[in-house]
Amino acid sequence: MGKRILLLGAPGAGKGTQSKQLAEKYDIEHVTTGDALRANKDMETEYGTPRSFMEKGELVPDAVVNEIVRAALEDADGYVLDGYPRNLSQAEYLTEITDLDAVLYLKVAESELVERLTGRRVCSECGTNFHVKFNQPEEEGVCDECGSELAQRDDDTEETVRERLSVFEENTAPVIEHYRDEGVLVEIDGEQTPDEVFDDIAATIES
Ligand code: AP5
Ligand code: MG
Ligand code: ZN
Repeated sequence: MGKRILLLGAPGAGKGTQSKQLAEKYDIEHVTTGDALRANKDMETEYGTPRSFMEKGELVPDAVVNEIVRAALEDADGYVLDGYPRNLSQAEYLTEITDLDAVLYLKVAESELVERLTGRRVCSECGTNFHVKFNQPEEEGVCDECGSELAQRDDDTEETVRERLSVFEENTAPVIEHYRDEGVLVEIDGEQTPDEVFDDIAATIES
């Protein structure tokens, strides 16, 4: 059976960057509520569209994301879960539907997070992440992987970034404490280079 990895971290901590590589290395699914919601931004739900929450930096209602995760995990032989759970009620739901082999927390200071997010550029086709300073593409505005155009995410403006960070503090920090209390949380220094972060994660998973 494939490994079941939970990757926790604030907005901009590097969850997406690391998950992409982890999914390749361990041949597991990258399950990310953020990407799933972005692909279905205008889907009508009884609560409104995902877009109406995401553009403000707020959480999409639990019922919507729980169902996305349930369906994705059901089909996966091993996964790295990125962007979920984001509050204690989602964490409780996750415990009901799966066991985990590793719970990792990518720790990065808030000032660094703001710079990472406002400078992020994302490939409009394949989703690869770049950064105007920390992770430049070979040609400005063009994806190294597939040659498509890079764009800024709608929620990466400074104002929305601040809101996302405050939603994280209020709702998701308690989730991290919950796993710490259970004794399963491994903290990773997320302020190293992406390759160093990856090496630390891989070492933890294999230990
Ligand atoms: P989501 O898409 O999950 O966004 P997020 O949690 O805010 O995290 P990000 O994707 O912004 O950051 P990341 O940690 O993936 O960092 P990345 O690798 O890109 O969620 C978006 C929205 O969807 C939420 O606000 C909410 O509305 C909704 N949503 C999602 N899940 C939900 C849930 N469970 N419940 C309810 N609502 C939900 O890296 C960031 C930048 O830094 C990049 O430019 C990258 O190149 C750079 N970088 C990465 N690593 C490093 C490094 N080591 N050093 C320097 N730069 C680095
Ligand atoms: Mg991400
Ligand atoms: Zn691309």
